[in-house]
Amino acid sequence: MLLRSQDPTCIEQAVATLQSGELLGLPTETVYGLAANAQDDLAVGKIYALKGRPIDHPLIVHVLSLEEVNYFAEPPSPYALGLIKTFWPGPLTLILPRKPGVAGFCAANALTIALRAPAHPLAQKLLSACKKPLSGAPIFGLAAPSANKFGRVSPTTAEHVTAEFGENLRVLDGGPCRVGIESAIVDCTQLQPVLLRPGMLTLEQISKAAGVEALSALQWKKIAPHALAPKASGTLASHYAPQAILRLLSLPQMRAKAQTKAGSDRKIGVWVRDKQGSLVFGPSSSVIGMPSDAATCAQALFAQLRAFDSLGVDEIWVETPPNTPEWQGITDRLQRAAHSGTEAR
Ligand code: TXA
Ligand code: MG
Repeated sequence: MLLRSQDPTCIEQAVATLQSGELLGLPTETVYGLAANAQDDLAVGKIYALKGRPIDHPLIVHVLSLEEVNYFAEPPSPYALGLIKTFWPGPLTLILPRKPGVAGFCAANALTIALRAPAHPLAQKLLSACKKPLSGAPIFGLAAPSANKFGRVSPTTAEHVTAEFGENLRVLDGGPCRVGIESAIVDCTQLQPVLLRPGMLTLEQISKAAGVEALSALQWKKIAPHALAPKASGTLASHYAPQAILRLLSLPQMRAKAQTKAGSDRKIGVWVRDKQGSLVFGPSSSVIGMPSDAATCAQALFAQLRAFDSLGVDEIWVETPPNTPEWQGITDRLQRAAHSGTEAR
């Protein structure tokens, strides 16, 4: 059921839902989340169950601001504070040392906790109302993974969430997400920040705000090959999978492949930056233009994969993005989605 922002009681209803230990579809600027009170283990358990997510994959806790960080984490280091001051509220999740005894189930009992202050105005209204509710107990953080079944495409509209989990789930409708891919996750428990999951912030931007050089996950692995890393679903080789098989191809690869498929009746959904390329497909295929700037492309990405699935295509062919820092998050999601296509499933 959608809670619409035009309804003046929508925030009140959303707070009551969370206070009663139920789940809520949460709009954020990145993707929609499946939210519960982070300190209510029973409610958090419902997230793992509904998503079908293994309970050793920790969840992100969404907070209003730096002030609420203190409920969940030890005081952030100077470089972590630099990141918070520059990027919050926004699409950046920080891994910080967890306060003992707080939100353990949500953090899969790790010694760390993932925290993010979302920039979506409705999410902020909700977090602020949760902190000072008209009645009932306050809630200081919302555990929320992306609101999709484990391993599947993240939702970027309230309707996507309802399509995934049905009408019984209440979803606060905040319209289409502005960023479109999940937050960048930075581990702030080491001497240098480590980018565990790329988002729409580059390593260079992160280094500048931190005042310390940030490392990619690959660089960090070389320096500390035996360091303990908690399981991060978004970093599994296979994730973000549409129903159809996804192939990531350069334009020449696509041309060559298209020629061999021209006579076949396999339905192909094609997403290419240059639509004038001499691509020949069967009549049941659809060729869609891919935005040529990274921000617009990220915003459209998951909705486009869902749209191809609704058309019932057998394969989705996506043109390989440019190899530049601002495309890294998009390439990351596409590679993981493509990897799923190469496995039996
Ligand atoms: O943009 C986002 O980050 C969205 C919106 C809803 O905020 N959330 C999201 O959540 O993408 P989820 O659960 O789909 O991805 C969270 C990632 C997972 O890969 C999880 O394993 C990792 O964060 N994570 C959570 N806690 C962690 C921790 N303590 N250490 C390392 N990774 C952690
Ligand atoms: Mg996810």
